[in-house]
Amino acid sequence: MAIMDIIKIPDPVLKTVADPVAEVDDDVRRLMDDMLATMYDAPGIGLAAPQVGVLSRVIVADVAKREATEDHPEVEPEPIFLANPEIIWQSEATSDYEEGCLSIPEIYETVTRPAEVTVRYLDRDNEEQELNCSGIMATCLQHEIDHLNGVLFIDHISRLKRQLIMRKFTKAKRLAEAG
Ligand code: NI
Repeated sequence: MAIMDIIKIPDPVLKTVADPVAEVDDDVRRLMDDMLATMYDAPGIGLAAPQVGVLSRVIVADVAKREATEDHPEVEPEPIFLANPEIIWQSEATSDYEEGCLSIPEIYETVTRPAEVTVRYLDRDNEEQELNCSGIMATCLQHEIDHLNGVLFIDHISRLKRQLIMRKFTKAKRLAEAG
């Protein structure tokens, strides 16, 4: 499994809508495995293919470690692989969560999203699945599905805060390129 480079804002690929996969074949499985290795390495709890420069509707996630920190510090990995994920139901109840993103390092902001969602997707074996989830998994999957639509978590916060963050990263990129 290969560790891939994670793309940061303001790269336009992060604002691009990704294409569905025709099926989960060996190529997609290889992408999923590389994305999972990249996510664990980062470390993060979710990763979408556009973040590694692939405009396919593929995400990986593993919230087990994050959920486990309170009562069970030692937990087995529980990776989940999703292709063409769609939110087919969402609760009216919302929850607030302080989100971050591997493409926007060191920035954390509170985002309000539906507290519970049902997601339909193709799994690693190309089987259709439906997953109902709440808590951090619901937040994580909504965040990752947003990535497939060119939407970032900072698109859910105030315009002023978003502009400050974008300006900071645009300036850092310019300095890196100049240096
Ligand atoms: Ni993200």
